[in-house]
Amino acid sequence: MNVTILGTGYVGLTTGVCLAFLGHKVTCADPVAEKIAMLEGGAVPFHEPFLADLLAEARCNLKFTTEYAHAIPGAQVIFIAVGTPPGQNGSPDLKYLQAAARGIGEHMDATFTVVVNKSTVPIGSGNWVGALVRDAFEKRNGRKPHTSFAVASNPEFLREGSALHDSLYPDRVVIGADEEQTAEVLYTLYRPILDQTFQPPPFLPRPEELGAVPLISTDLASAELIKYAANAFLALKISYINEIGLLSEKVGADIAQVAKGIGLDARIGTRFLQAGIGWGGSCFGKDTAALVATAAEYGLEMPIVQSARDVNRRQRERVIEKLLGELRILKGRTIGLLGLAFKPHTDDLREAPAIDIARKLIERGARVKAHDPVAMDRFRRDHPELCDVACCDSPEQVIRDCDAVVLVTEWPQYRELDWEPLAKSMRTAVMLDGRLALDRSRLSRAGFRYLGLAC
Ligand code: UDX
Repeated sequence: MNVTILGTGYVGLTTGVCLAFLGHKVTCADPVAEKIAMLEGGAVPFHEPFLADLLAEARCNLKFTTEYAHAIPGAQVIFIAVGTPPGQNGSPDLKYLQAAARGIGEHMDATFTVVVNKSTVPIGSGNWVGALVRDAFEKRNGRKPHTSFAVASNPEFLREGSALHDSLYPDRVVIGADEEQTAEVLYTLYRPILDQTFQPPPFLPRPEELGAVPLISTDLASAELIKYAANAFLALKISYINEIGLLSEKVGADIAQVAKGIGLDARIGTRFLQAGIGWGGSCFGKDTAALVATAAEYGLEMPIVQSARDVNRRQRERVIEKLLGELRILKGRTIGLLGLAFKPHTDDLREAPAIDIARKLIERGARVKAHDPVAMDRFRRDHPELCDVACCDSPEQVIRDCDAVVLVTEWPQYRELDWEPLAKSMRTAVMLDGRLALDRSRLSRAGFRYLGLAC
């Protein structure tokens, strides 16, 4: 099929590359010329494992452009995967979505086109996008578009860092459309994924246990709500284990064992019960805020979702409290941060706990040193206000001469450091394990005073 993707961020580019890999003819459009130039040269503008490899495999089915006039005509499916950054009052800012919908209306030809909302959009956006496309078409052509397009919602559940795996081997595919004909276009598009009939790329083998992928076919509003409800549930699962972690610390329990003990109940499940600093990233914060804001429009409160947000905020403050409890004074101390990205295997810094923590430490007069395997360039570029943070080339350089070190992002390479000389290189060998990812007894043997966020 002829597919167009508007927006080449994590969701758009991953979707485009995967669909091209499956044999569809895909055009990716983005107004940012540098991004398109990079992609044409085979480079990916952000860090996502294997994405450049899959792009190379699928290159013959991919085109890149900055022009909607080249991308829209003739497309059977157009995915809107533009950013919906946080706006005011918790509602997402929809200016890019609006521009994309208008662009579609202006350039659409007689081909029957399914316009798919892939961006996480407020409930009801499907109808709004439909109206914008129709108005722009009418303005341009002086007549109504009749049946030449329809709107669908196809929420994305991919996690950064494992975006390709989540796209090729999803737990489910959700398609929301108000007419059967629209949904059918998308079943055809996703058939190789639903039936798992494609030959897996060598670097991304199919999980052995995976059978056919379940398809959830719904109306538009339900698909839009599924996305928010899923992210909010995962977010509150993390905040729940962090709340239990706080109590666990008081009563002297081991939160890792507690999480395992409850997670093995199949009704609860073991995933997203890793206690620590809590969630960051572009989705959980934004989507929980949007859910609370949407509910408020209907006169509803969402106290559970709101509490999950409060608990998450508190976790970042607890890092400072723990350091204060240990060092008594932060002014003039040197604190090292291991990890800047909001989670391992990405260079994404959106709502990254490290940013908040660095800011709070600097406000209290501490010197901050930091390392991240892939996010430091982005950190320097996107956070000039934190230019006082000393970016170090290695974790060893961060740790040297520190009064305390905080593990903020659990990159695998931070687990296997040579701890004994590192403890000796510090002013006071304090390690605050913000992700409960390090081996406590190993660090203690190496001479560290080990503190966990929940122990
Ligand atoms: C999330 C959703 O998982 C994905 O389905 C959705 O489409 C986009 O948002 P992402 O933000 O990429 O994906 O990362 P995810 O792996 O979900 O982690 C989010 C945050 O939660 C990270 O900061 C991570 O460190 C934290 N987390 C995750 C925990 O603190 N504990 C856990 O047990 C799991």
